[in-house]
Amino acid sequence: MNQHAKSISFVLNGSKTEMLAQTHENLVELLNRLDLCGARESCGQGLCGCCTVIVDDMAVSGCLYPAAFVDGKIVTTIEHLDHDVTLSPVQQAFIDKGAFQCGFCTSGFVLMAHKLLEQRPMPTDDEIKDYLAGNLCRCAAYPEIINAVKSAARKMART
Ligand code: FES
Ligand code: FES
Repeated sequence: MNQHAKSISFVLNGSKTEMLAQTHENLVELLNRLDLCGARESCGQGLCGCCTVIVDDMAVSGCLYPAAFVDGKIVTTIEHLDHDVTLSPVQQAFIDKGAFQCGFCTSGFVLMAHKLLEQRPMPTDDEIKDYLAGNLCRCAAYPEIINAVKSAARKMART
């Protein structure tokens, strides 16, 4: 092992994963090496939410999170939501409500919406706006995103 890499072991989307993390790489870059490209680096400064990943139940900015720090942790990416080939209620609602245009921001919004609905099953508009304030959509699909989150909440409440 070279001095610029660290051996890490973590649970990635439900599977134990062992690999080398380069000391210079961030979590998005490590996930990209595993062909997981849903978390996308955009601003690279922790400002846009496009790179959102869940680490030990916390949403983190993958662009700022050192890859080696996931050692011993549980990592969940957007790819895990439809691992059984069925879209989650939030994913389906984003499609049904047309809550995206280019889609670059969408995986970050969907992951954050999942976290929100875990904590607030029936959020108000203001609660949705507050919770998603760290996610930016350059296509300005905000009204549709809020509608999608509310639609998913209603659907989840019925099941
Ligand atoms: S790319 Fe990480 S927050 Fe923008
Ligand atoms: S849909 Fe294009 S940035 Fe959000």
